[in-house]
Amino acid sequence: MNWIAIGTLSDIPQRGARCVDTPSGKVAVFRTAEDRVFAIDDHCPHKGGPLSQGIVHGAAVTCPLHNWVISLETGKALGADEGCVRTIPVKVEGDLLFIALEAHAHKAA
Ligand code: FES
Repeated sequence: MNWIAIGTLSDIPQRGARCVDTPSGKVAVFRTAEDRVFAIDDHCPHKGGPLSQGIVHGAAVTCPLHNWVISLETGKALGADEGCVRTIPVKVEGDLLFIALEAHAHKAA
């Protein structure tokens, strides 16, 4: 695992997100109302909508395009929809955020 620094917690508004460019694609980093931080691919499993522009509620995000709800914890679509995005490990040290990039990134099944 390569941990890369992606800024600070205060860079992300509560219930907001930011998009980080990585060698394995765009990663959406979310901060929940409870200050939990999650990172998933910024690519909706439905039609690739930008999840970082979705609405965060609890530990899930609603895709801005067609309202699929994606769990930030598992990357899975919730409800009747089926699909999954890659989840990326996040580490918080003080106010600093890091995400883990695998040497060979792969999509979660
Ligand atoms: S692209 Fe996300 S719900 Fe359709």
